[in-house]
Amino acid sequence: MIADVTTNRILIRQYDGDREDLRPLFREADDSEEQIDVYILSGVILVATDGAAIIGHLQLIDLPDNEVELKSMAVLEPWRGTGVGRALVEAALHHSRRLGRLRMLVATATADVGNLRFYQRLGFRMLRVERDAFGPHTGYADEVLIDGIPLRDRVWLDQAL
Ligand SMILES: CC(C)(COP(=O)(O)OP(=O)(O)OC[C@H]1O[C@@H](n2cnc3c(N)ncnc32)[C@H](O)[C@@H]1OP(=O)(O)O)[C@@H](O)C(=O)NCCC(=O)NCCS
Repeated sequence: MIADVTTNRILIRQYDGDREDLRPLFREADDSEEQIDVYILSGVILVATDGAAIIGHLQLIDLPDNEVELKSMAVLEPWRGTGVGRALVEAALHHSRRLGRLRMLVATATADVGNLRFYQRLGFRMLRVERDAFGPHTGYADEVLIDGIPLRDRVWLDQAL
């Protein structure tokens, strides 16, 4: 067990089961099945559990120069807004610091204002924008809207560890 998150029964631990069992969670974080196929088997995964149920995941993939990417994370709908996502990110930061990683990066859609709030409140800062990262050429449907904003550009955020 990596962390005992709260006073209640939500626990966070490293996952060593079948990655395919987590695909529904990966789908919550990424609309492109094609992209998920590329990275689902990579890196390390932390999961949040409530009793026997896995209710959230966070995937970390090592990058060059002792950096690490928070590649995918999601919390199941009924548990959102209860601190599970924050606890997963804090456990990931702790885990990566312990391994001597120097910086964590995360990318999300510029359109996803909620995620931008979430990550910035957890210490991430804007790094750069990749225009037109999302579209049919990368496995995303054309003209998807998030809160009325076209899903088009990707923003990278980072924080020193
Ligand atoms: C993003 C996500 C993982 C956050 O998990 P969570 O368990 O709901 O987050 P927490 O409850 O720990 O929230 C921490 C804080 O961020 C805020 N927050 C979390 N998600 C938010 C959102 N979408 N919009 C606005 N605020 C959000 C919470 O309100 C909370 O703020 P508070 O401290 O003022 O209460 C979750 O919303 C999710 O699974 N989303 C769908 C998948 C996804 O988008 N993954 C990220 C892809 S990059």
